Amino acid sequence: MADFARPAGKFYVRDPSKVTYAMPMQEASFGNTDARLREMARRVEQEQKDTGIDDLVDNLAAVIISTEPGHFPGAVEELLATTGYSPGCGFRDGGFLQAAVLRCQGSADIILQARPAPHPAFSALNTAPRARKLPSTRLETLVFPVQDLEEYVAIQRKRGVRFLSPEILTADRYRFIQTYPSLYTGNSLGFIEWEEGFRGEYQPDNSTPLEGLPQKPDLPHLQHVGPLDHAATRVRAGERDRAILEFLSLTGYRFSFAIPVESQNSLTSVVRRNPEDFTMVFTSGISPFHDEATTGPTEAFIHRYGPRVHHLAFRTEAIRETIAAMERGGLAFLDGLAGSEEEGIHQIFTRPSPHTMLVTEYIHRYGGFDGFFTEGNVTRLTEATARQD
Ligand SMILES: [Fe+2]
Repeated sequence: MADFARPAGKFYVRDPSKVTYAMPMQEASFGNTDARLREMARRVEQEQKDTGIDDLVDNLAAVIISTEPGHFPGAVEELLATTGYSPGCGFRDGGFLQAAVLRCQGSADIILQARPAPHPAFSALNTAPRARKLPSTRLETLVFPVQDLEEYVAIQRKRGVRFLSPEILTADRYRFIQTYPSLYTGNSLGFIEWEEGFRGEYQPDNSTPLEGLPQKPDLPHLQHVGPLDHAATRVRAGERDRAILEFLSLTGYRFSFAIPVESQNSLTSVVRRNPEDFTMVFTSGISPFHDEATTGPTEAFIHRYGPRVHHLAFRTEAIRETIAAMERGGLAFLDGLAGSEEEGIHQIFTRPSPHTMLVTEYIHRYGGFDGFFTEGNVTRLTEATARQD
C-alpha cells in the first residue's frame, strides 16, 4: 500500500530519525490504575460521539506486516501453513515493494509486504537490541474501512493527528491514508474507502502481478483455524493509558477491562467494540521496567524488542487435535494448552516466527463463552512468554 514519509504531529512521531526504543523512564512509584484510565476513556468516548468517529469507522479490514525481502517468501509460506488463510493476490508496486494478500472467510485480510529498503518511519522503531537485526520487520499497520474518508481525516487533522502522506492517496480501486506510527505502540493505523465493486482490493494503480506465490498446503487440520480474533500490542507501563486512549480516539473502540498478573508485573487491557469484531489487546507492565531479571516478561520483552504487536490470535475449533497435528508437522509452542473446556476457553502460543517475529495464538471458545480469557489463562500465557528469547 502507500509508502509516504512526511512530518508528524501531536500524537505521532515528530522526527522518526530521533525515535529510539529508549523512552524516558517513569518514576519508580508509577503504577497503572483502571480508575484513571476509565475516567479519561469516558471523555474520549464522548468525543467519539460528538465528532461522529464511532459511526465512520468499520471493523478491521487488514493488517500489514513488513518483512525483510529475504524473509518474504518464508513469511507467506509460514502463514499459509499455520492459519486458515489462503493466497489472494500478489503484486509489486512502482517502488518495487512486493506484497501478498492472504484471505480467510469472515476475517480481516493479512497483507505481507517487503520493501527494497527500510522505511525510515518504521525502521526507526526497530532499533531495540533484539529488533535491530531485522530492521524492516514488524506488524506495521492496522487498516480500518471508513465511510467518508475526507470527513474522517478532517476530524482527525483538527485533533492534531498527522498522517504519513499530506493528502489522501487516491487509486482506481480505493482511497487510503495512514497515520505515523504511534509513539506508544509503534503501530500505524490505516484508513481505506473502497470504490464501488472493489471492496477488499489493495493493489496500487501502477502495480504488476507478483508471480510464484506459494500455494496453500494440503493440511486438513487447518480447516479448524479461522478468523483473526485479536492482536496484542506490548506497551510500556507508563504509556498504557496514552496508547489505549490514542487507539480509542482513532477508531471508535471502547476500553473494556484489564486483568493484572501482579506476580509477573503484567497488565492485559482489552479494547473492543462489538463482541464479534476484531479486538485489540494492550499488554504492559503494571509498573515500569527496572531490570531484566526482576521486571517480568512483559516489560523485559519491550526492553529487548521495543513496543510492538507481540501476537496475532486466531479462532480455532478442535484445538487439541489441531495443535497436535501442527506439532507433528514441526510447529513449536511456548507452553502447553492454557485453560479448559469447563472454563470455556483454551489458548496456546507458538514460538515467535523467524520471519515476522510474531507469535501466533490459537484460541478456542466453548459453548456460549463470550469472554476473552480467564485470569488463570492470562497468568499461564504471560509465564509462557518468559520462555521467549
Ligand atoms: Fe492473546
